[in-house]
Amino acid sequence: PVPVLTIDGPSGSGKGTISRLVAEQLGWRLLDSGALYRAVGYAAGMEGLDLSDAEAVTRCAQHVKIRFHAAPDGQDTRVLVNGHDATDELRTETAGAAASAIASIPTVRQALVDLQLGFRKAPGLVADGRDMGTVIFPDAAHKVFLTASAAERAKRRYKQLKEKGLSVTLSGLQREIEARDTRDASRAVAPLKPAEDAVLVDTTGMGIDAVVAKVLAVVQS
Ligand code: CDP
Repeated sequence: PVPVLTIDGPSGSGKGTISRLVAEQLGWRLLDSGALYRAVGYAAGMEGLDLSDAEAVTRCAQHVKIRFHAAPDGQDTRVLVNGHDATDELRTETAGAAASAIASIPTVRQALVDLQLGFRKAPGLVADGRDMGTVIFPDAAHKVFLTASAAERAKRRYKQLKEKGLSVTLSGLQREIEARDTRDASRAVAPLKPAEDAVLVDTTGMGIDAVVAKVLAVVQS
């Protein structure tokens, strides 16, 4: 079977950056599953749906067209939602909160399963998310769970959003991240937790290169 490396963890643990760099190093494909949930939350918002209306949001998840377009060197992959380039909107903490809200609906998660499995193509896949190693790719050969202290995660996120020119405050961001973590970890379906066979990597105080090296070592071990 096509090899899969799952990288799960909470917001700001560095998953996105690490997954992208590790996929580049290995020459494997990349699945940013968080972007799928963000896209569904965004599409539902555009349709004026109530995000707690499970049936309506599920229908939206079943029909939404999500496409990833590779961008030239060093630039972010563009995400097209129903034909509209929503890359910038999807990055906001509002989109993150909407994603977290609709991600707690079991039928929405089901609607996204086949789409995610479809990313598993030769020569390999790096799957970034919350339930990659536990639910979507339980048979993955390599599993990593990234963590970092809440304060460090808020700081990283703050820096990231500032660099994108978004106006945020560190304390507000920390509160939002903690609320989202609590909801993600306590929901009934696919709660955020490490797979039993995942290697735990605490990235607090670690630089990006060191984390990438550690994750690559997991694949090569
Ligand atoms: O980048 P960050 O970790 O802040 O967010 P993300 O990975 O884009 O995910 C946004 C939200 O989508 C999370 O808070 C989760 O509620 C949800 N999500 C999920 O439930 N399952 C996944 N595999 C990925 C994301």
